[in-house]
Amino acid sequence: MSGPTTGAGGVGRRPIILDCDPGLDDAFAILLAAASPAIDLRAITTVAGNHTVDRMTLNARRICTVAGIRGVPIAQGCDRPLVRAQIVGSDIHGESGLDGPAFGPPVVDVDPRHAVDLIVELIMAAGEPMTLVAIGPLTNVATALRREPRLASRLREISLMGGAWGLGNRTPAAEFNIVVDPEAARIVFESGVPLTMCGLELTHQVIATPDIIGRVAGLGTAVGDMCAAMLRFYGDTTSRRRRSFGPALHDPTAVAWLIDPTMFEAEPMHVDIETSAEFSYGRTLVDVDDVLGLPKNATVPTRIDAMRFWDLLLDALATYR
Ligand code: BDR
Ligand code: CA
Repeated sequence: MSGPTTGAGGVGRRPIILDCDPGLDDAFAILLAAASPAIDLRAITTVAGNHTVDRMTLNARRICTVAGIRGVPIAQGCDRPLVRAQIVGSDIHGESGLDGPAFGPPVVDVDPRHAVDLIVELIMAAGEPMTLVAIGPLTNVATALRREPRLASRLREISLMGGAWGLGNRTPAAEFNIVVDPEAARIVFESGVPLTMCGLELTHQVIATPDIIGRVAGLGTAVGDMCAAMLRFYGDTTSRRRRSFGPALHDPTAVAWLIDPTMFEAEPMHVDIETSAEFSYGRTLVDVDDVLGLPKNATVPTRIDAMRFWDLLLDALATYR
């Protein structure tokens, strides 16, 4: 198996750190970022979310092993939310956090640095503003912003998957990544860093239909087989919900935004994070109609051209031979 070796520069590419909790849809975000000629993937950092952080790190190593992604440090981060007790997403992603495919032992090592240290180190040492892509709970990102106050001014953007202006998917009020660590999310949304918030109303526009799963399986490669197995498992678990959307590829939208923003419609909005209410803890209060007239702290993509998204993702997956 061979795949792209990134992390060694990449002139003209946008340098990013991908902070994740892999996670079935996270896996596609990793594969898209590592394959894209528009992106220089400098590190993959893991955080407790879809399951415990040790499982998330193992899963990142598994994905990179199968895809042949080498030369990108994988660093493990925070093992619990800042304040609340940990919750996991095994109902959707399985007990491994990445159920579906059978994996052999990973051949990619873990970087010895803590993810928060690596995030701070890479961003502070970079010769240009870097971008953080955050597709899990925001614990690592918030901790890094607190650890190094100069970090905010060194970031070009944080592109994140999380939140919703309507109903949640983990509680009636809240989306998973935000409700897992609402206090961290609040720090990030109040940081002043330019944010892009890919919420559920956007990500529910990219559902992996049987036709898409067939295209993935039809790649006939180790990565295609892994991805098809993940999508089948993900389709089963997501179909158990009353409002069954099917397997939504939430996380790669935050990467696609950086590669080709022309496939999106987006608007600046004011977003607050609820951290004190009993039933709506972790809700993103998105001022869609600008009724508050407050400063806009997030760009909120509202529509995505799903056909172009699938073509982008399938082309990326096809680069893994
Ligand atoms: C988000 O929650 C996680 O389960 C997914 O990986 C995604 O990041 C969707 O709400
Ligand atoms: Ca995720």
